[in-house]
Amino acid sequence: MAKSTFFICFNLSLVFSLVTATYYSSLGPTLMGLGEDKFTHLHFYYHDIVSGPNPSMMLVAEPNGKAIDTLPFGTVVAMDDPLTTGPERDSKVVGKAQGLYASISQGELGLMMVMTMAFTDGEFNGSTISVLGRNMIMSESVREMPIIGGTGAFRFARGYAQTKFYSVDFTKGDATVEYNIFVNHY
Ligand SMILES: *[C@@H]1O[C@H](CO)[C@@H](O)[C@H](O)[C@H]1NC(C)=O
Repeated sequence: MAKSTFFICFNLSLVFSLVTATYYSSLGPTLMGLGEDKFTHLHFYYHDIVSGPNPSMMLVAEPNGKAIDTLPFGTVVAMDDPLTTGPERDSKVVGKAQGLYASISQGELGLMMVMTMAFTDGEFNGSTISVLGRNMIMSESVREMPIIGGTGAFRFARGYAQTKFYSVDFTKGDATVEYNIFVNHY
């Protein structure tokens, strides 16, 4: 649909809502100027860097002064983790995973991940995907977390992320994690 048609319809609906004093109106995807529903597979590696002079994660809350390396129940961590095309830390950076994870299980080690994956390369530069879900890092080899939304190219995103360890240094805490994201968006 032409942009002008969109604006006419949009303005008409604004006028209509003013006249009828409502605060909402129906608006289809076409009227919003959204294109075809797309399905995209994203594949990259996530680096949670604990050791060295520039860690990409920061301990926020440490329950009862227990050591971070075991991530005891109640630990909260903030992250600004690079996302790269390959498993090597110096491979091409395509974005950052920015958010929090918290240790939420009193039994087996499990994390609640709340993060925005902000892409900085290619077609999806400037677009983000929001991930929210439980991540039982020790008990399941492939973990799954829901994609609950997005911005830019990923508006109306829905889908899931599958993730597994590529490598973990259990003494330093550094982890490289492979991500496969399957997402529906406009
Ligand atoms: C991504 O977008 C920003 C802002 O528009 C721009 O400055 C940057 O050069 C872009 N990066 C790439 C790799 O295209």
